[in-house]
Parts: sequence; C-alpha cells; structure tokens
Amino acid sequence: MPLLELDRLAVNYGPIKAVRDLSLTVEAGEIVTVLGANGAGKSTSLQAIVGLLPVHHGSICFDGQNIAGQSTERIVRRGLTLTPEGRHIFAPLTVEENLKIGAATRSSAEEVSRQWDQMMELFPILASRKNQLAGTLSGGEQQQLAIARSLMSKPRLLLLDEPSLGLAPQVVELIFDLIGRLRDMGLTILLVEQNVHQALDIADRGYVVSGGTVVLQGTAAELKISPDVQKAYLGHA
Ligand SMILES: Nc1ncnc2c1ncn2[C@@H]1O[C@H](COP(=O)(O)OP(=O)(O)OP(=O)(O)O)[C@@H](O)[C@H]1O
Ligand SMILES: [Mg+2]
Repeated sequence: MPLLELDRLAVNYGPIKAVRDLSLTVEAGEIVTVLGANGAGKSTSLQAIVGLLPVHHGSICFDGQNIAGQSTERIVRRGLTLTPEGRHIFAPLTVEENLKIGAATRSSAEEVSRQWDQMMELFPILASRKNQLAGTLSGGEQQQLAIARSLMSKPRLLLLDEPSLGLAPQVVELIFDLIGRLRDMGLTILLVEQNVHQALDIADRGYVVSGGTVVLQGTAAELKISPDVQKAYLGHA
C-alpha cells in the first residue's frame, strides 16, 4: 500500500479548475518529484493534500485513510507536513521561536526536545543563530529554517514546494544534499521542483503535471531520457 495515494484529485478556485483528475502515489521511503510549468497546479495540489484548500472531488489516502476534508492540524498530527513555496517563516520571531511553533502539534515536551536536538544537529547554521530574528537570515538560511520548522512536527511524509527557488547554486546543492540525507534517515518526500536536473538526480520516480493533471510519469531515469522532458525542462532541442 502506498504511503500517499491521490486518486482523481480535483481542486477549484471558484470557476477555475486548477487541478483535475490528478492521480499519483508515493511509496514509503521514496523521493517522488512533481515537475511542471508555472501554473500547472503543483502548489495547489500540495495545499489540498494538507487541507489548506478544499478538495472538489477525488480522494487523498495517507497511510490507508482518506484524509480529504480533514483539518490541516489533524493531517499534520497524522504525520504529513508541507514546507510551502516562498518560505513562510515568521520574520519578527527568532529562529528558536519559529522552530517551537513548528512543534505545536506535538504535545509531549520530551518529544519536542528530541526533535529540537535533531534539528540543531541537522542544521548547524540554525544552531549558531538560535536567537537571530528569522527575517534577518539569508535566503538559504530562511529555507533551512522553513524545512526545519516542518520537521519539528516529526512528519513521515514531507511535502516540499520548490525548496531551491531563488537560491544561489551552492545553496541549492546544500538543500538537495539535505533532502538526500532526510531520505536516508527514513523520511518519505514529495518534491515539487523547477531545478529539474537535480530533482531527477535525487528522486526515485516523478510525475509531469500540465493543465492540472498528470501527463507523464516514470522512474527518474526514464524521465531524464524522455524527449518530452528534455525538450520542456532540460534545455535540449
Ligand atoms: N488563489 C487563487 N485564485 C485563483 N486562481 C488561482 C489561485 N491560486 C492559483 N490559481 C491558479 O491555479 C493554477 C495553478 O496554480 P499553482 O499555484 O498550483 O501552480 P504551480 O504549478 O504551483 O505554479 P508555479 O510553478 O508558478 O509555482 C494557475 O492557473 C493559477 O493562476
Ligand atoms: Mg507553485
């Protein structure tokens, strides 16, 4: 049984059908990437999965249960978390305060303290800047904070929406390296990315979304050599 299974998911903004009949699966332990042009419906899908947008029809099964229609808080408690596009950190709060907010769905102090220790180990830059205001961090540091905050809820499945957006090449490397390490630690990841090369290098499988639905899917190796992917995303004629 897949850890996550979307079956004919549809999400509308009023009359606009942003996601239509989108089906995909993510198996435990995988990195699955979702590729697609601007406006394809990638962020809309991720937001619907975590209950931030209502599902028009279709189902979202997480760990065998349909979570469509459940509150975001309940979904996060189940072990599914989104790091949204554009690093929505709380700028006037410190790094530490941001991370503690991420743990709000975890009730035991012991659990929170264990996650905190793990984040300080995974993100040395955040450890050295615990008391700095988040808004004064660099772009790359803010992205690390956004991911660390998501991880504070101890997810089993992490949804990442364009984590490398707008970052310098070296920082992009650092973020992808981190994604690989999270997978090695047992986390399952659904990754939306515009850096198609790097996404396909790290992913096990991928889906190409266009006009709100899946138009191509395969293993990362298959997608890399697909003429359609090469033409649209990898800069080959
Ligand atoms: N709040 C909204 N109200 C109306 N339409 C919206 C809203 N948010 C997104 N859309 C539309 O839904 C479609 C899908 O948008 P979405 O943000 O999911 O695309 P995306 O694949 O994440 O694109 P990008 O790569 O640019 O982030 C687009 O046509 C967009 O204009
Ligand atoms: Mg988007």
